[in-house]
Order: sequence, then structure tokens, then C-alpha cells
Amino acid sequence: MTRCATISGRGMGMMHGGNFHNHPDAEVVAVCDMDPELLAKAKEHFGIPGYPTIEELLANCDPDLVLLIVNETRRIPPLRQLLEAGQNVFTEKPLCGLEGQERLREEDLGIAAPAIATWRDSNLKFGIDFNYRFMHHFRKLHDDVAEGRLGEIRMVHARAHFNCWSHVIDQILWTVGRPEWVSVVGDPNESRGWGRLIHIGWENGVIGSLSGTNLWGYDDHPLRVKVLGDEFYAEAKGLEGSYSRRKANNSEIEEVWEAEQDKPEMPESFKRMADGVIKAIHADTPFPADGEAAWNELLFEAAVHRSALQNNARVFLADVEEDAFA
Ligand SMILES: NC(=O)c1ccc[n+]([C@@H]2O[C@H](COP(=O)([O-])OP(=O)(O)OC[C@H]3O[C@@H](n4cnc5c(N)ncnc54)[C@H](O)[C@@H]3O)[C@@H](O)[C@H]2O)c1
Repeated sequence: MTRCATISGRGMGMMHGGNFHNHPDAEVVAVCDMDPELLAKAKEHFGIPGYPTIEELLANCDPDLVLLIVNETRRIPPLRQLLEAGQNVFTEKPLCGLEGQERLREEDLGIAAPAIATWRDSNLKFGIDFNYRFMHHFRKLHDDVAEGRLGEIRMVHARAHFNCWSHVIDQILWTVGRPEWVSVVGDPNESRGWGRLIHIGWENGVIGSLSGTNLWGYDDHPLRVKVLGDEFYAEAKGLEGSYSRRKANNSEIEEVWEAEQDKPEMPESFKRMADGVIKAIHADTPFPADGEAAWNELLFEAAVHRSALQNNARVFLADVEEDAFA
């Protein structure tokens, strides 16, 4: 039985806590929230002890796993504290920055880098909730690429509303790999969230594009990722979930999958992620989306920011990474 402690008595924290608590091989044994009212409610909900600070939590219980579901603007200090105390950690996305319109700035990478270095130097497990990896349609797209069903990959075409921004980046990186460079049109100094058109290049010659804004709504799906190979192309889109695979240079359908109307993929994906995390603890393997996935998403965003500030310059992720650890 994996003993978990949950930090946050708010919505997302309670949801993750519930999913781990309901898992047959895990239980939540303690909660932590600095807000006394939320702490009291969480203690009552799970019928377990609770603490207002991480120090008190760690002094009174030694969990196998800490669910750190605090907001991303104040996640790095407690993450470092937990890793330095030898705790395995599962956290929400993005690792840091500001969710929504503004998103990550390159300065944020320097804040996150020491936490990543601490984790890399440890034998601890650390993972992030890129739960879209557990949506059926995105997994199908990923597996198409991993198992060579599209032929040789040539292009990626993606777009997202900013509510899904870190997820769309993770999807591209998870499915196609970490890119070599980005080149970006957009003005980070725009006051109401900057729209961005991103060109992406991989070392193996694959090219791609990703555009982001929240000027469009959810009517035509908040995110879409299309991967084009020389034999087939496939697209996964939306949060309810749909997927199709077609012949290259042809619209003949090879496969179509749609989530049933009363069974959207989103809530299930959180439960499947909890299951993946618990299985990884038992099998002693990395978490389904580990610290490298968390880091690479931030790195991509920082490169995007740098490129836009440099008037569309081609920015190499390796250079941004080197500067962050300098
Ligand atoms: N994966 C997804 O699809 C998805 C969907 C929605 C939200 N999220 C993410 O979930 C995260 C959490 O969202 P939220 O709105 O519930 O966060 P929140 O900031 O509203 O709640 C965090 C809670 O943790 C407590 N807290 C913060 N720091 C603490 C500390 N050091 N010690 C003790 N208590 C502390 C706060 O008092 C608060 O009650 C966000 O990062 C958001 O991006 C992810």
C-alpha cells in the first residue's frame, strides 16, 4: 500500500487526493493546507490528520509519496523542500510560470533549474500531471508514431487555446520528441496575452508548427495535434476525445475513434494517471510523465519567449538549457 500525503485542500488537490485514496494499492494518510478552513474540511473528508505547514506534515508522517497540488506560481520552493527531505513527489502542471495568457518567461527557468538539479541528483521519483497522456485519443496518436504506423514522420501541425497550453506542448514533445529549435512570431509585451505562431524543428529534419491564443473559443476543439508521416497522417483533438488516421495525400480513412458522449476522457485521465503513478512506484520505474517531461515543457516555452523577443530568431533549446544551469 502506497501511503500518500496531499498538499492542498482545494479543488484539484481534493480531486487528486480522492483518486489516489480510491486506488486499491494507495491511501491518503495526511493532508496539508495553510488555509485553516480548507484544512479542516480536508481532514474531515478523508478522516485523517492534517497540518498547516509542510514542516509539520513531514515531522508527523513519513509518506511514500507527496501530492503537491499547490498553484504553479508557488510550487518550486515546496518542491525543493520535499525533494531535499527525500520525498517522492507528484505535482500539477506546469512546473512553474503563470498558467493562462502570459505563460512562462525565461527568468522562471532559472527558478525551476535548482529543483530539477536536486531531483536529477537523487534517486527519488518525481512526476507531473500531464494527464492528457492518458486520454485515449492522444495515446493512439502517440502509439502511431512510436510503433511506426504513419511511416516516416515529416510534419507536425498543432494549435491550442491557452487553457491547454502546457498540455499541447507536452503532447508534441511526448509524441515526436524534444525539438532542436523554435522560431516564433508574436509580441510577449502585448498586454492581454500574446498570440504566438511557433515554427519547430527537430534534429532528424521533422518540421512543425504550433499556434496559441485564446481569442478563439472551444467550439472547434481547444487543442488539436496532427502528425503527418509519408504513409499516413493522424490527428487527435479535444477534451472529450476524437482521433482519426488517414492515408497521406488522400483523405481515405484508416481508423476513426470518438469518445462516447457521456464518457469524456478528461475525468478518466486523472484516475489513469494516478494508477500509472502507483504502478511506477511498485515497479520502480519513472513516473508516466517525469521531471524531464516537466522540465522540457518549461524549456520549450522559455525558448519560445526568447525567440519572440529576438524578432523570430531561431533559438536552440540546448542553448536555453545551458544558460538556465549556468
Ligand atoms: N492537469 C489539468 O488538466 C489541470 C486542470 C486544472 C488545474 N490544473 C492545475 O492544478 C493546480 C492547482 O490548482 P488550484 O486552483 O487547485 O490551486 P490553488 O492555488 O487554488 O490551491 C492550492 C491550495 O494549496 C494551498 N497551499 C499552497 N501552497 C502551500 C504550502 N506551501 N503549504 C500549505 N498549503 C499550501 C493553498 O492554501 C490552496 O488552498 C494549478 O497549477 C493548475 O494549473 C491542472
